[in-house]
Amino acid sequence: MSNAVYPGSFDPVTYGHIDVIKRASHLFDTLTVSILNNGAKTPLFSVDERVNMLLDVCRDIPNVKVDSFSGLTAKYVQENHFDVIIRGLRAVTDFEYELQMAQTNRKLAPEADTVFLTTSLEYAYLSSTTVKEVACYGGDISKFVPKSIEEMIHQKYELRSKNGK
Ligand code: PNS
Repeated sequence: MSNAVYPGSFDPVTYGHIDVIKRASHLFDTLTVSILNNGAKTPLFSVDERVNMLLDVCRDIPNVKVDSFSGLTAKYVQENHFDVIIRGLRAVTDFEYELQMAQTNRKLAPEADTVFLTTSLEYAYLSSTTVKEVACYGGDISKFVPKSIEEMIHQKYELRSKNGK
């Protein structure tokens, strides 16, 4: 059995993430998509909201589970006996950070390897940050995220503007 984990912020999940999730789900027996609960960042969506988003977009992929974690990825990997860490690589600009992270994780959890999937070309430009920026100025994000996620993002920005944030 090969058990892979795809850790990330997923704030929010995009078509780029979904592409990586689908492709990784074909390569491993189980794939756990896991959201980092990062106290140092202020996300747009709570961990519970992001869990629900991921459950929704992964509902038709049978070997995908959704989870969340706090602290070090390497510790979470060891505690849950994952043998592979999945990360998506969009462009050369991702590479230095990803390489450093993979090498650090390998030092801390030598039993797990990081496997990089190159993002499909049509999503190479896409990031959660871009989606939030376009949405916050009222732009069309329908090409970046599924309809259900699009609605949640618009709702969030409407609530924020109503509350004067
Ligand atoms: O979706 P992201 O924000 O690019 O995901 C980054 C993530 C969550 C995978 C990374 O920040 C992470 O693993 N954080 C947990 C803390 C950790 O283990 N740091 C050491 C690796 S250098």
